[in-house]
Amino acid sequence: MSTTAHGGASPELHLPFDLAELDASPVRTGRLVLRPIRAQDADDVDAYQRLPEVVAYLPWPLRDREASHEHTALRARQRTLAGDGDAVALAIVLPGEPSLGGGGEGRVIGDLTFILTSAAHAQVGVGWVLHPDFQGRGYAREAATALLDLAAGLGAHRIAATVDAANEPSLALCERLGMRKEATFRHDRHDRTGWRDTVIYALTGAEWLGRRVSAADTTTSPGAH
Ligand SMILES: CC(C)(COP(=O)(O)OP(=O)(O)OC[C@H]1O[C@@H](n2cnc3c(N)ncnc32)[C@H](O)[C@@H]1OP(=O)(O)O)[C@@H](O)C(=O)NCCC(=O)NCCS
Repeated sequence: MSTTAHGGASPELHLPFDLAELDASPVRTGRLVLRPIRAQDADDVDAYQRLPEVVAYLPWPLRDREASHEHTALRARQRTLAGDGDAVALAIVLPGEPSLGGGGEGRVIGDLTFILTSAAHAQVGVGWVLHPDFQGRGYAREAATALLDLAAGLGAHRIAATVDAANEPSLALCERLGMRKEATFRHDRHDRTGWRDTVIYALTGAEWLGRRVSAADTTTSPGAH
């Protein structure tokens, strides 16, 4: 962080963010492993990308197997956050669950998207998808928590999620993460179902780190020793 002529601190993200770091040492949460998505994950990814209920609120088309494999191969090639609009995808791996593609490390039950929206203003975006068989178990919250940690570690000043206003599970996840509902845009998009509303949830990196410290304090509070 440096200081500007008018005394404000100017944001500095630690860029480029290269996924090689996560190849070498994936993020391990209590139950999950998060690592860069790979072309070989395509069968696992296809198992959720081809479900209408999964893409209902995503800006994704319903993909057949071939399109899903192409999409996963494309995302696997996107390895760096360096300029505005760059995005990378992290596979959410559940160890012990057999991969549909035959890999031995576990099944890719969903993925996370991490987008550099503005390097100059230290703004990032986050997104999440889980196979329905693995929803309702707190895996998305666990994975998203690790993603917000990554974002804060990168120096993100503000972290935002863009959610369809009817996507109750994703809105609930934003609330559980402590993100703030900042805006609702009426009819800012049109799809095959008609005009849609978009909700923006966000929090600052400092707010997120504060929440993490409070949570740690709670787990080590008197009586927990
Ligand atoms: C959005 C999405 C990722 C949320 O997944 P989710 O599984 O509901 O989210 P969580 O991991 O936070 O799980 C929460 C639920 O697990 C329950 N749970 C069970 N065990 C838990 C545990 N150990 N820890 C935390 N929660 C647990 C919670 O009580 C909660 O249940 P509830 O919804 O009945 O209150 C999922 O609905 C999805 O993939 N949707 C399709 C794609 C999509 O729209 N993505 C978002 C685009 S913006």
